[in-house]
Amino acid sequence: MAPKVVSLTPAVFHLSDAVNEVSRTYGQAPIVPRGPRLAPLIGKVRDGIRAALGCPSHEAVLMTGTGSTAMAAVLGSCLAPDERLLVIRNGAYGDRLVEYATTLRQPLVDMSLPYGQRPNLDEVEQLAAANAFDAVAMVYGGTSTCTLNPVAEVGAIARRYGKKYFVDGVSSLFIEPMDLDGWGVSAVMGSCNKGLHSHPNLTMCLVQGDLLAAMDIALNAQLIPGASKRIMRDWTNGIDSSKRQLKKLVDDLGDVRVNGTDKAARSRARGQRKSILEDIRGILKGKFGEGITARWLNENRIPGEAQINIELERIKIEQMKDK
Ligand SMILES: Cc1ncc(COP(=O)(O)O)c(C=O)c1O
Repeated sequence: MAPKVVSLTPAVFHLSDAVNEVSRTYGQAPIVPRGPRLAPLIGKVRDGIRAALGCPSHEAVLMTGTGSTAMAAVLGSCLAPDERLLVIRNGAYGDRLVEYATTLRQPLVDMSLPYGQRPNLDEVEQLAAANAFDAVAMVYGGTSTCTLNPVAEVGAIARRYGKKYFVDGVSSLFIEPMDLDGWGVSAVMGSCNKGLHSHPNLTMCLVQGDLLAAMDIALNAQLIPGASKRIMRDWTNGIDSSKRQLKKLVDDLGDVRVNGTDKAARSRARGQRKSILEDIRGILKGKFGEGITARWLNENRIPGEAQINIELERIKIEQMKDK
């Protein structure tokens, strides 16, 4: 007798007639990622979001992910590496903004307030007037504190001083009033599963069209000539310049000797060594640190972070003994 062959792969011939009927209709015009029908569908959704929120100068960017994905996308894509970000935080998701900005190694001005405490607008204005930051980020609806932050008021300050303004609207978009154009919001981090009660793994940001253009972000997978080369060149230049600075600092370190009979001079020399070591550590922990290999450090006799920490501790103990 011939052996019975059982296929374990689900396929149309295993399915009921009713299901097969649907697949036939579906098969005639499937909407697949590379097919011609997906882009118009996404375009319609994006236009719909813009129309519903009444923000013609913003573009809706759709992504698979959660609200946190939208937070990371805005911080990671809408800031130049050296732009100083003021985070006004007074709840769990403000803390997350700081965490993400720190991970991105964005220069940070941290306005950390007790949970639920409304920010003092005069303080924000003073920081803006003193040009202490280039961009500001704040949560609108504080989910962990059940409070609303003064998004329009902070927006007015950001606009007055020409600062970028990012709003975490994950829990407030499509729920609370949000006049993105009127309030000068450069980008809002959104979610589809909160206000829209939609699919939990689909999220969006709304970003000012001008900002997208300024950041070289194209919405249509169009290649921007020279953009990737420029990014790579800036990165390489940053690493090269960090390496040059490190070599110079190590030379400087070699020139500072802690000796002689003058106690004040010894103390001064220790201070100089400490400051140089801290500068080296700053570069290693900085944006370009990860592009510098342990091998290169070794070859150029540049101490790594652990060595620096030990040396700093040694200087401290020596200084105490010398008193
Ligand atoms: C204000 C706010 N921001 C960000 C998030 C993070 O969103 P998700 O949990 O979808 O990543 C939440 C989630 O509740 C939120 O309320």
